[in-house]
Amino acid sequence: MLRLEELQVVRGRTRVLHGLTLELGAGEIAALVGANGAGKTTTLMALSGLLPIACGRATLELESGTLDVARSTPAALVAGGLIHCPEGRQVFARLTIEENLRLGAYLNRDEAEVRRLLGEAYALFPVLGERRGLNAGGLSGGEQMMLAVARALMAQPKVLLLDEPSLGLAPQITERIFDTLVELNRERGVAMLIVEQNAMLALEIAHKGFVMEEGRIVMSGTGRALLEDAGVVQAYLGASA
Ligand SMILES: Nc1ncnc2c1ncn2[C@@H]1O[C@H](COP(=O)(O)OP(=O)(O)O)[C@@H](O)[C@H]1O
Ligand SMILES: [Mg+2]
Repeated sequence: MLRLEELQVVRGRTRVLHGLTLELGAGEIAALVGANGAGKTTTLMALSGLLPIACGRATLELESGTLDVARSTPAALVAGGLIHCPEGRQVFARLTIEENLRLGAYLNRDEAEVRRLLGEAYALFPVLGERRGLNAGGLSGGEQMMLAVARALMAQPKVLLLDEPSLGLAPQITERIFDTLVELNRERGVAMLIVEQNAMLALEIAHKGFVMEEGRIVMSGTGRALLEDAGVVQAYLGASA
């Protein structure tokens, strides 16, 4: 569904990705884990067209054909179903919850369908429905994360790119978010590439995992195999694992 081949990305004067290769199949959850500064956020930004691809190829395979990320506008990628849920949530604090959600569906001209999608979002996260007319800035961190996920769903993703969904959240809230992601994957078949510093959490729900170091994939396998690998545990999951 999503294929990255020898991807290279330069930021400023630094080459951050040095030939990154990975594949995400339809309906799969993949975890991309690795230390701070490894290039995980850079990978997602390049995939959604926020950073240029210097070399290599990223493609999104759809029923209607193949989209080459480097040759597509961000709007075309969104229309193709590649949706980025960015690091730090990035909700519009001075817009209402409903306005934030509507921005997720800005390409959709069918008002009846947008209303149906809003209904789905409020069913998934009732707290958002109860407060739909209030500014998003007043939400807690966990609620803002729910809003960020719900906004991404408004675009009817086929592939969801999630950057550190657990960052700064209490464990119970994180669990709630991850349960929702698993449900969306199972029930709607949304494929996901999840970047997480909390590697254990992401690998537990992932079908497969990729370990990234300094702009390259250094190891990959099923989520379970990586969780059971002593070297991965020591290097990325901390002593407590
Ligand atoms: N805005 C930027 N300009 C130039 N270099 C950057 C910028 N942001 C990050 N970098 C560089 O890219 C590298 C990878 O960053 P990032 O993709 O954010 O890593 P991760 O998400 O894995 O923590 C960092 O080591 C940093 O040096
Ligand atoms: Mg990051």
